[in-house]
Amino acid sequence: MEPMRSYPVLGLLPQFGRDPVNTLVRLAQEQGGVAVLPLGRRRLYIITSPTGVQHVLKDNAANYVKGRTMDVPRPLLGENLVSAEGETWHRLRRLVQPAFSRRRLLNMVDTITATVEEFYPRWDALAEARRPVDIVPLMMEITLAVIARLMFTVDVLEEEERLLAAFDTALHALNRIAWSPWPRLSSLYIRALPSFRRAKATLDDVVYRIIRERRRHAPERNDLLSMLMNAEDPETGTRLSDEELRNQALTVFLAGHETTALALSWTWYLLAKHPEVDRRFREEVQAVLGHRTLQKEDVERLPYTRMVIDEVLRLYPSVWVTARDTADEDVVDGVTIPPGARVVISPYVTHRYPDLWPAPEAFDPERFRDGVPKHLPPFAYYPFSGGPRKCLGYFLAPLEMTIVMALLARRYRLTLVPGYPVRPRPVLTLRPAPGVYMWVERHAA
Ligand code: HEM
Repeated sequence: MEPMRSYPVLGLLPQFGRDPVNTLVRLAQEQGGVAVLPLGRRRLYIITSPTGVQHVLKDNAANYVKGRTMDVPRPLLGENLVSAEGETWHRLRRLVQPAFSRRRLLNMVDTITATVEEFYPRWDALAEARRPVDIVPLMMEITLAVIARLMFTVDVLEEEERLLAAFDTALHALNRIAWSPWPRLSSLYIRALPSFRRAKATLDDVVYRIIRERRRHAPERNDLLSMLMNAEDPETGTRLSDEELRNQALTVFLAGHETTALALSWTWYLLAKHPEVDRRFREEVQAVLGHRTLQKEDVERLPYTRMVIDEVLRLYPSVWVTARDTADEDVVDGVTIPPGARVVISPYVTHRYPDLWPAPEAFDPERFRDGVPKHLPPFAYYPFSGGPRKCLGYFLAPLEMTIVMALLARRYRLTLVPGYPVRPRPVLTLRPAPGVYMWVERHAA
């Protein structure tokens, strides 16, 4: 294959602008695990070798800060777990992480199940209408509702529509910053937009009211908000203030719902494309659940479903790149990286290294029969990142995906509408474009 042509002045900007995903894959093939991407006057360091990724995310993580990439969420989220650095981040993580433990989340399986079941009437209507539907927004609705219930339980029910609409407006505004060639300017512009200000005011209104009411009545609830309110930092004895609570609650919404919805959308797409995998997955669900309600013990009894999820996240990790800025000069896999440089890590690329993942483009859940293959080095597979800033939702996301897929597959059959070739379109996350258009049919009861 011809090496990619780098233009004078522009470097690889034209190719990267047209097809960022494949430009990074090609770059790793041509230059290896630490590659340089010239974009006009800037050089990005694309790190995808397992050793390089481990160095940046884990071994020398202190040298790699989130820096300018965090201009995007800040107008909405303020100081938060995703963007904070140093001691501020450490404290937030210590306070928030226990709420996301395996044990606590397994105790919320009933809530997730009940939320998904509430969508049945809507999906029955879709099935009756016999019109093709884009699965992506349908998955977004479900994951947003799930995270709303996990966070606030019933409090939010009467507010749900208002909350979701405000969230949608705010997310669209943030996406505009993400796409902008001048994120800082766009961030200022977005902050001044009346629609964004209104949406933010609604979110503040709803979330602060829930927090105030909880503080007044202090009802014990099995939800994330209660856990966050009661959390006490073991090192400083401090708790989260109202503003900190509000910021972390919205951060969890933002970080958790779109990522999971996109992974679910890719799952339906890949299952529809691979009838044999789809058949085995459905057989497992039928054998384990039959017609009864899903319970927390069932999650462990659906190993094939988990293999499917792992393989989907290998091919289409929702967070396909993460960026860091170097504090000091560093050497990664023998390559010197100057201070203040932008480093980009891409699980999408690492997950396609042919020496780690033979026939990398093939969708084959068998790769994960015994979990991540033992012979692979650490950071050969990292859809949830790793090291200290590993995703807080790494247990919740597959758990939720398992429940959503099992319940919907038991009740509906989803088939792809021909004539809509699906391609990954990278925004901040990896979206299937133009969408995943499917027919929804209800199984005979
Ligand atoms: C399939 C779904 C998901 C994927 C692929 C995913 C992936 C990731 C990745 C790669 C990061 C690291 C980003 C970076 O360091 O630049 C991250 C961070 C994070 N994720 Fe997720 N995520 C998913 C679902 C969730 C869910 C459901 C939650 C809700 C709890 C969540 C909450 C977070 C938070 C709070 C962080 C920041 C952690 C920190 O910096 O301390 N994610 N996620």
